[in-house]
Amino acid sequence: MTEVVRTRAELAARLAPRTGTLAVVMTMGALHSGHESLLRAARDRADAVLATIFVNPLQFGPNEDFDRYPRTFDADLEVCRAAGVETVFAPSRPEIYPEGEPMVRVDPGPLGAELEGSTRPGHFAGVLTVVLKLLNLVRPDVALFGEKDYQQLTMIRRMVRDLALDVEIVGVPTVREPDGLALSSRNRYLSGPERAAALTLSAALRVGADAAAAGRGADAALAAAYRTFGSGTGARLDYLVLTDPDLGTAPVTGPARMLVAAWVGATRLIDNMPVELSPAAPEG
Ligand code: PAF
Repeated sequence: MTEVVRTRAELAARLAPRTGTLAVVMTMGALHSGHESLLRAARDRADAVLATIFVNPLQFGPNEDFDRYPRTFDADLEVCRAAGVETVFAPSRPEIYPEGEPMVRVDPGPLGAELEGSTRPGHFAGVLTVVLKLLNLVRPDVALFGEKDYQQLTMIRRMVRDLALDVEIVGVPTVREPDGLALSSRNRYLSGPERAAALTLSAALRVGADAAAAGRGADAALAAAYRTFGSGTGARLDYLVLTDPDLGTAPVTGPARMLVAAWVGATRLIDNMPVELSPAAPEG
C-alpha cells in the first residue's frame, strides 16, 4: 500500500518509529522506465522505499523549462504503487522553501561550473541544496540516483564525502530504448524527426566506447565520437568529453567516462557511457 504524504509533519509521522532500512529515490516526477529501475534497485536494497516527487525550482535557470516541465502525478503514483513503494513524499513548493528562495545554498565547487554547469549557472547549487534538504528530512540509509545524470551523481557523491553525510549513495545504470536512446523525462518534448536526431548522442558515445575497446586510445576514441556529429544529424553539439570516472583529470588508461550534451530543436539532451581505455600500444 503506497501512502502519499505532502507535509514535513506528515513525513515525520510516517517515518517514526523507524524499523529496518530505508531507501530513497528522489525524482521530479514524469516517471519512466528509468525511474522504475531505480525503484526496483531501491526495493532490492532496503526494507522500505520512499520516493520523492518535487519539481525543484532552484535548479532551473530563468530561460529553462520549469513551467513546461511535465507534471504527471497520477501516472507517477501508479508507477510507485506497481514498484511497491511504501511512501511518496510530494511536497508543495512552500513546504520545501517556506521562506521563499533559501538564502543559504550548497556551494558545488569548481565542478559545478563545468559541463552542465557551464551553460546552466546555479543548476548544481539548486540540485545539491534540495538533495541535502531531502536527505535531512527523510534520513534514509541509502539514496539511489541514475547514472543518466552522471555529473549530478558525481557531485552528490562528492557532497556526501565532503560534508560527511551519513548515507550510502548508489548509482543505477541508464535505461535505454532498444535503439539506444537514453530514457529521459525530456524525451516527451521531441517530435518524430527530433527523436531520430536525438539518437546521435548515444550513437556517438557507442562509437567512442567501441573505438576505446578496440585499443585506439583516448584521442582517437573522442575523435571518432565527434565525427558522429557530422552535418545533417539534426543534433547541435554542446560538449563531448572523455574524462576519468570522478570527472577530474583527463584519463590515460583504465575506466573512464564519455559525456555528451546536445540540442535537438528546443530540447537539450545529455547522455554518457563508461569507456575502458587500454594502455597505449608501444611505438614502432
Ligand atoms: O534528477 C532529478 O530528477 C533531480 O535533479 C533531483 C535529484 C530529484 C533533485 O531535484
